[in-house]
Amino acid sequence: MRSFQFYNPTRLIFGKGQLEALKTEVPKYGKRVLLVYGGGSIKRSGLYDQVIGLLKEVGAEVTELAGVEPNPRLSTVHKGVDLCKTNNIELILAVGGGSVLDCAKAIAVGAKYDGDMWDFAQRKAVAQDALPLGTVLTMAATGSEMNSGSVITNQDTQEKLGWGSAYSFPAFSILDPVNTYTVPLDQTVYGMVDMMSHVLEHYFHLDANTPVQLGFCETILRTVMDAAPRLVEDLENYELRETILYCGTMALNGVLNMGLAGDWATHNIEHAVSAVYDIPHGGGLAILFPHWMKHNLDVNVDRFKRLAINVFEVNPEGKSDKQIAEEGIEALSKFWTSIGAPNRLADYDIDDSQIEVMADKAMLFGPFGNFKKLQREDVVSIYKASL
Ligand code: NZQ
Ligand code: ZN
Repeated sequence: MRSFQFYNPTRLIFGKGQLEALKTEVPKYGKRVLLVYGGGSIKRSGLYDQVIGLLKEVGAEVTELAGVEPNPRLSTVHKGVDLCKTNNIELILAVGGGSVLDCAKAIAVGAKYDGDMWDFAQRKAVAQDALPLGTVLTMAATGSEMNSGSVITNQDTQEKLGWGSAYSFPAFSILDPVNTYTVPLDQTVYGMVDMMSHVLEHYFHLDANTPVQLGFCETILRTVMDAAPRLVEDLENYELRETILYCGTMALNGVLNMGLAGDWATHNIEHAVSAVYDIPHGGGLAILFPHWMKHNLDVNVDRFKRLAINVFEVNPEGKSDKQIAEEGIEALSKFWTSIGAPNRLADYDIDDSQIEVMADKAMLFGPFGNFKKLQREDVVSIYKASL
């Protein structure tokens, strides 16, 4: 293992009926609340009314920012920052999926910064302060509810960049599986692909002596694979929604990667695709991850073999390590397709015309990936294989 410090300041409030915790959490931070939400799902589900009711009970003065886009945009962040400054906001409350949470994180740091929040995404500055942020998560996917990451799209430059800071962990996050019942089938699938991809990003590391971490990763992967086929047939099953919601948080809250540096190249490659084509993040990952794996099989074939046997139950008898590893990758791809995820860029009508543009975007900060440093030609090759 490499040396590490673990610190996660988010109060995780999990379970049925836990929305009530807003009554104890919100007053800790102040009265003036900016409520941030997406394109209307929380109004249709009734969650908006419940949140407003509880905020009224504690006497909060609510300002609203509605309409945060999937793949949230910098222009919306700017609107939120303005609202915070003009209304002297004391707490931001994000109610929605990862996009709403990520947008709220960017607003929280932007509200305490004299320049443009985009400076943080461009690595020109590091956030030194933020407004406190609370979240009510409505979709299991990103882990944003318990991490400091955020991904923002600049429409003007067609860039989608991840950033993070010590100040952008939510102060509290409320996760009630019931609030995820209305997530449509396709988004439910994308969310499960995303959380499995986070686990896989951790799984492919070069640090030695990480048996517990690998085992944790495998348990989460097996658990999602066990629940997913039943959940897609039964979207309002409490236990399955609960399991998946918990998996999503655990996949990217810092627990799995203590003592190791995961790869994260596939995420970078996907962000460049959704920057240009505005496709759902989980859909892009389902297409790209198996091709990243095939491309990097030789870096450590044993890790791929272990994944194949321990997670995909590939029978190793009479097969070479490479054959076992390849069967595992095939099984992953088949599993994702079986629950309804795409598996070619063509599924999103993406052809080869923008490959060079996407590769440029992926290479913005130079070669990347901790398991294998990818050069531009590697990225182009993975895009081509994914067409
Ligand atoms: O906008 P509304 O109307 O709320 O609808 C959303 C949106 O259309 C809908 N939805 C969410 N909860 C729902 C629901 N519909 C009905 N009922 C509910 N309960 O689902 C759609 C997608 O929502 P979105 O928030 O975009 O999905 P997700 O949570 O997958 O977030 C994706 C974004 O997060 C970034 C991605 O790149 C992408 O921009 N990521 C953030 C990470 C992080 N902060 O750590 C890590 C990830 O790897 C990822 O990159
Ligand atoms: Zn992701």
